[in-house]
Amino acid sequence: MTSRILVLASGSGSLLQSLLDSPAGDAVVAVGSDTADAYALQRAAEAGIAAFTVSPTDFDTRADWNAGLLAAIRAVDPDLIVSAGFMRIIGAEIVEAYRGRIINTHPALLPAFPGAHGVRDAMAYGVKVTGCTVHFVDEGVDTGSIIAQAAVAIEPDDTEDSLHERIKIQERRLLVDVVTQMIGAQQ
Ligand code: GRF
Repeated sequence: MTSRILVLASGSGSLLQSLLDSPAGDAVVAVGSDTADAYALQRAAEAGIAAFTVSPTDFDTRADWNAGLLAAIRAVDPDLIVSAGFMRIIGAEIVEAYRGRIINTHPALLPAFPGAHGVRDAMAYGVKVTGCTVHFVDEGVDTGSIIAQAAVAIEPDDTEDSLHERIKIQERRLLVDVVTQMIGAQQ
C-alpha cells in the first residue's frame, strides 16, 4: 500500500481510531490537531504514528495559522487528508493545494445542518431522520461534493449526546468504507 493518509482531528479521535483499526490503518502516516490536548494525539502516540499540533493560539492571525498548518501538512506530504472531527475551517490555500484530496466527515445529512452543531441543529429543527456525510472539502463550510451518506433515525427520547453517539457508529463505518475505497485497500 503506497497511499499516505494524514488524519486531522480535534477531539477524542474515535473516527481516527476506526481508521487505524481498518485495512486503511497502515496508510495513516500522521495525525494533526489544532489542540495539544486532543485525545486523538494520544491515540496516534499509542499507534506509533507521527503527530503534530498547529494551534491558532500560537499565531497572530488566521492566515498565519493556515500557513502554519499548510507547512505541517506539506512536511507529511500526504496523498489524502481526512478531516475526522477537525473543528476548524481548512483555509483556501490548503484546499487549493490539495483539492480533491481532502475529505471531511460531518454528523448530519448535508446540505442540511452544516457547521459546528449539525447534531443539535437537526434535533432543534425537529427532523425525524438525520445521519452523516463524507464529502470533499472545498472553500465553503461543509459544501463540497458529497461522497457517501448514511441515515440515522432520531428517537423521541434522544439527547444530543445519545443521537451523536448513534450517528458516530454510522460515521465510523462510512468513513472507513470511503477511505478504503479511495486508497484501494482490501477490506
Ligand atoms: C464526529 O461526529 C465528527 O463528524 C464531528 O465530531 C465527531 C468527532 O468524533 N465533527 P471523534 O472525536 O472522532 O470521536
